[in-house]
Parts: sequence; C-alpha cells; structure tokens
Amino acid sequence: MSGGPQRSLSYGEYLSLTELLALQRDGDVSADEMHFIVVHQTFELWFKQVIRELAESRDVLDTESVAEEAIPMVVHRLGRVTEIFRLMSQQWSVMETLSPQDFLAFRDGLGSASGFESAQMRELEILIGLQDDHRNRGMDPLKRFIQMAETSEQGKVDLERLRSRMDEISLWDTARNWLGRTPIDGSTPDSTNDAEVVQSYVEAHIAALEQHGSEMAERMSEWGMGDSDAMKARFAAVAKGARDFLMPNGEVDRPRAGLLFIESHRDLPLLAWPRTLIDRMIELEESMVKWRHSHARMVERIIGRRIGTGGSSGVDYLDATTTYRVFTDLWAVRTILVKSELRPQIRDPEFYGFA
Ligand code: HEM
Repeated sequence: MSGGPQRSLSYGEYLSLTELLALQRDGDVSADEMHFIVVHQTFELWFKQVIRELAESRDVLDTESVAEEAIPMVVHRLGRVTEIFRLMSQQWSVMETLSPQDFLAFRDGLGSASGFESAQMRELEILIGLQDDHRNRGMDPLKRFIQMAETSEQGKVDLERLRSRMDEISLWDTARNWLGRTPIDGSTPDSTNDAEVVQSYVEAHIAALEQHGSEMAERMSEWGMGDSDAMKARFAAVAKGARDFLMPNGEVDRPRAGLLFIESHRDLPLLAWPRTLIDRMIELEESMVKWRHSHARMVERIIGRRIGTGGSSGVDYLDATTTYRVFTDLWAVRTILVKSELRPQIRDPEFYGFA
C-alpha cells in the first residue's frame, strides 16, 4: 500500500474489486465465454506486471556505470518475469478445457478480435528489443495498430504508446551497452590499450577454437564419421563463424567480447553477478519461447489448422513466432565456447578477485 496507512481500507476497496469484477460481462455471455474472457484478462494483467518489471530493469541497467548492488536487483526482477511466463505457459491448460465445439459457439462473435491485437504483448516485445525484421513476414503488428488508430480512440492511444516505446532504448540494447563495459583481461573501455588487449583476447580464443576443431576433425574421421578434409572444413566454418561474430567487418564487437569473457570465466568471483544476469536473460527468453510454443499447441487442439480471427494462417503463424530470438548474442556465444583447458589464460587474475 503506498503512502502509509491513512484510513482503513477493506480488502475489496484496496483491490478495486467492484470495478475489476464488473468487467467479465457475466450477464451477457455463457460460462464458456466468460471463462474465455477471464483467461485473457488474467494474461493481460500479467503482461502489465511484466512490462513494469522489464521497464524498471532496463532503467537500472541504462546508466554509464551500473552500481554493483543494482545487478542483483535486476536479476531478481527478471527472475520474476520468467516465473510469470512459466505460470502463463501452465495457464493454457485451463483454456484447453474449452472444446472445439464450445469455442465455435461464440467464435464468430469475436469478429477480427485476436491476441494479435494485444497492445501490451507488442509493448513488451518492443521493450525487450524484438526487431521488426525478426518478425514473421506478412504479419506486421504495427500495421494492424495503424489501421485500428484510424477507426478507434483506443487504437490511437495504443499506437501512441507503442511508438513512444519504440523511441526508447530496449532492454537488449542496454544489456549490450553494459556487456561492452565488461573488464576483459583487466582492461576496461577507458583503459589506454583496451583495443589491443581485447583484440588479442579474441584472437587467442579463436585460435583455441581452431585447435580444438582440427583435433576433433582428426578424431571424428578416425571414428569413421566422414572424410578428414570434409570434417576439417566443417570445423573451420565454426571458427570462421566465431570470427564473424566477434569481429564483424574486421572490428572487435566489444559487447560480444565481454560476453564471451564472462561466459568463459564463470568461475571468477567478480563475474558472478554478471553471469547470473546473463543466465536470467536466457531463462527469460526461453520461458517466452516455451509460452509461445504452448499457446500454439493449445490453438492446434482447439481450432486445428483454421485461419485465425486476426487473419493469420493460425498455428503455422504461431509456430513461426517461436523462432524469434531477441537476445541473439547470448544464444550465439554458446556455439563458440571452448573447454576450460583450452581457453586463453587470464592475464590479470587478481583483478577478478582470483588470487
Ligand atoms: C481459444 C483460445 C485461443 C485461440 C483459438 C487463439 C488463437 C490464436 C491465433 C490463431 C493467433 C494468430 C493470430 C490470428 O490470426 O488470430 C493468436 C495470436 C495471439 N494470441 Fe491467441 N488464441 C487463444 C487464446 C489466447 C489467450 C487466452 C491469450 C492471452 C492473452 C492469447 C494471446 C495471443 C497473442 C498475444 C497472440 C499474438 C501472437 C503473436 O503475434 O506473436 N491467445 N491466437
């Protein structure tokens, strides 16, 4: 309760239950349809909380130097968002108590209304940092909001809100800026020879990956898994992929180098919170993907391969959205890690609290 106790509020007053419980159209709809409304409203309430948690986490990270005690707080907030998505994934089973026939009884009454028009869902995607060019071609949510803004006041408000979110920095971009400040071999971006230190760290890592690749190619061809040259070419392609990732256009990408350093040295005490934050971000995105996937399975069960009320191909569209990834680098770095015996030695272990 904000502002301290001023007068005694009842439970119902505190939660505005009169207003909240007047919003399910009980008198006008069947129990099945009320259930449909309640499930959607519950999700939208969770979306609201998710947006708040993500925006505040983003704001904490969005400073030149993030206070050390701030990282555990962001870790905590993102952990909550993950739990909300996990809970929402379970919630589809309640929706699935609606049989295909029960749904058909009121589906036509929905017109073109669909979760595709959920402004909060779009807002949270934008806030996290989903890029428009990652989205499924041909289903452009913003286009739908522009259309809705032409015909309704609420549409105008929603479009305005989405546009102003687009003008803000996303959680992913702030996380990349933060990763870019990671001390690598004791060097920070404002150190005089930072560029050389980072470059030589990245080169040493790629060399380790190449060495491991050629050893693996030999071994796998001995095991009869393919011709030695073909195997070598495959592993060389992995090393080239690492180079392109760490040095796009020949220049070191410092956030990616910082991320590689954190993921490679998970044992360093000074990096304990940063790696926990990265773990939380991966868990968060994984929980969103699983949520999208379980929505698609629920939809397949209830409407099969019908066209969606929002006009998409339905299940195929929803399955395509499960391939979206926002924290792309966090996923990509996993492909290029090397085992600890091979990774480059740390130049300045004391810096990281490793005497
Ligand atoms: C009988 C239940 C449901 C069915 C059959 C269903 C079906 C669909 C379909 C077919 C789509 C694709 C867009 C379209 O063409 O309409 C969609 C999108 C969506 N639905 Fe559902 N849905 C159901 C329940 C829910 C619930 C309870 C929520 C919770 C808010 C929800 C949230 C969404 C969201 C956010 C999208 C947009 C996904 C995206 O574009 O990334 N749906 N739904």
